[in-house]
Amino acid sequence: MAASARVILREWREADREDFAAMNADPAVMRHFPAMLSRAESDALLDRIQAHHATHGFGVWAVEADGALAGMCGLLRVAFEAPFTPAVEIAWRLRPAFQRRGLAAAAARQALAEGFGRLGLERIVAFTVPANEPSWRLMERLGMRRGGCFGHPRLPADHPLHAHVWYVLDRQDWLAQGGAPAVSRPPRGH
Ligand SMILES: CC(C)(COP(=O)(O)OP(=O)(O)OC[C@H]1O[C@@H](n2cnc3c(N)ncnc32)[C@H](O)[C@@H]1OP(=O)(O)O)[C@@H](O)C(=O)NCCC(=O)NCCS
Repeated sequence: MAASARVILREWREADREDFAAMNADPAVMRHFPAMLSRAESDALLDRIQAHHATHGFGVWAVEADGALAGMCGLLRVAFEAPFTPAVEIAWRLRPAFQRRGLAAAAARQALAEGFGRLGLERIVAFTVPANEPSWRLMERLGMRRGGCFGHPRLPADHPLHAHVWYVLDRQDWLAQGGAPAVSRPPRGH
């Protein structure tokens, strides 16, 4: 894959399910999550992603690079209470072969343009565990500022992934750093 591979956010296809499941069953990809996903769990996750699109008119999109499924990236309503909610978060996950090439940043910029452009959001948050350096470095690369720490309410206090850091990007800061609404056809969910 060329380093300059073009990144596209697009709708999900049934044919994506196999590669999506392989990504979600990969121990390296899932090392900062409570568990890897079985095929059934991965399919159920994609079903929930598509339901979020149907309900809210936005969501997590398929990331395509060089004609292949590179992973996922997009926006979703935070479904739990935290110091920064109610909020829309940006999330990302790439297959190993597509990591460390700046593709997540390219995909994330398209998702931010969608959020601040078509959706007119005032701010977008992101969160991860402190050990997930690629993820929080990506947040910083995107101009997000660190909001603070919180305990993930869906994990017990003594769970090793309980402690999280959260970041935020305000619309004004996104505009100031040269962000611009997407000019191409916006990605659509199902
Ligand atoms: C998080 C993730 C999407 C980043 O994708 P990526 O395409 O590798 O990201 P980029 O190439 O744009 O790099 C982002 C930053 O992380 C750094 N980085 C990437 N991999 C790294 C690693 N293994 N260790 C340390 N830093 C790393 C890059 O150097 C870059 O930092 P910089 O902007 O200071 O140069 C990818 O690592 C991933 O899918 N991880 C597994 C799933 C996951 O944890 N998702 C996030 C859950 S909150």
